[in-house]
Amino acid sequence: MALNVLVVGGAGYIGSHMVKRLGAAGAEVVTLDNLVSGHRDAVLHGEFVQGDIADRALLDQLFASRRFDAVMHFASHIEVGESVRLPAKYYRNNVANTLTLLEAMIAAKIERFIFSSTAAIFGTPQYTPIDERHPRAPINPYGRSKHMIEEALADFDRAYGLRAVCLRYFNAAGADPTGALGERHDPESHLIPLTLRAAAGRRSSIAVFGTDYDTPDGTCIRDYVHIVDLCEAHWLALQSLMAGGASTQYNLGNGDGFSVLQVIDTVRRVTRKDFVVSHEARRPGDPPRLVADSRAAREKLGWRPQSPTLDTIVEHAWNFEQRRTR
Ligand SMILES: NC(=O)c1ccc[n+]([C@@H]2O[C@H](COP(=O)([O-])OP(=O)(O)OC[C@H]3O[C@@H](n4cnc5c(N)ncnc54)[C@H](O)[C@@H]3O)[C@@H](O)[C@H]2O)c1
Repeated sequence: MALNVLVVGGAGYIGSHMVKRLGAAGAEVVTLDNLVSGHRDAVLHGEFVQGDIADRALLDQLFASRRFDAVMHFASHIEVGESVRLPAKYYRNNVANTLTLLEAMIAAKIERFIFSSTAAIFGTPQYTPIDERHPRAPINPYGRSKHMIEEALADFDRAYGLRAVCLRYFNAAGADPTGALGERHDPESHLIPLTLRAAAGRRSSIAVFGTDYDTPDGTCIRDYVHIVDLCEAHWLALQSLMAGGASTQYNLGNGDGFSVLQVIDTVRRVTRKDFVVSHEARRPGDPPRLVADSRAAREKLGWRPQSPTLDTIVEHAWNFEQRRTR
């Protein structure tokens, strides 16, 4: 029988790729999204419901309308800098509204949950690569909001039997290889789409924040993971929960760090375009190096990233950037 999955935030960057992946697997999918930062035309499969996870009556109605096997939760605000300026907005949506969703699930006896967590829960790393045992000490409201939900989920499992897999993405990047979907944040804050926009002539330059870090070229190092590989990890996590697997957490990255300047060089090479790069001061709260140790996901879920190279990630994102009209 086909799996029934509710994808919350399925009109966003990562959620829309997940909806497509679930569709390809033959799952029945309902996307719930308020379109605060998502795009209706990015939902390529299943049913779409425009609404907010804060709306308990809507959730109750949705859960009464069909039997969902699991909920995948991508809906949140995602800007670290904005979370420092507007923490209430972040705690409201990422914590309070998520609790409303979880309470509605418990009431409807839906017991499988996959949660979009983040490397930001670790704060400034004590060591890299970062494994699941690394202490969690987020340094901004965005990271704290995700950490709070991870803590709540552990309690909810003990009390209500809600089983959850928390997937901590490092840097989600790339696009669907067909070019049908890609990254459309507005405003965009992620390095690869911003740099591609500079390559496409859609912005005048790209800024590098901090060139004096303790890294080989002085710029921050991040672990970029292809969006399709991320979705595959969700699919495997869903299979593990369907097979009766316990609540757990996985750090998801390729285990390779690339500096900001290496990303910019890769964009120049892949696109064969040149553009202006400006060197700016460090931004507060940017750790020098964030690289994942994903051995647990490989060993326990059997996760095997298919597009681990930065060149492939940039090629697919460039393919999307060239097609996009908005
Ligand atoms: N993009 C990354 O590199 C990255 C890294 C780590 C973690 N994450 C997490 O992954 C998830 C998805 O990120 P993304 O990049 O796809 O973001 P996104 O902004 O593209 O997608 C979020 C979606 O959730 C929807 N949404 C937000 N609040 C809602 C609400 N209250 N009710 C209904 N819908 C709501 C938005 O309209 C949007 O479609 C987020 O939880 C984010 O914190 C992303």
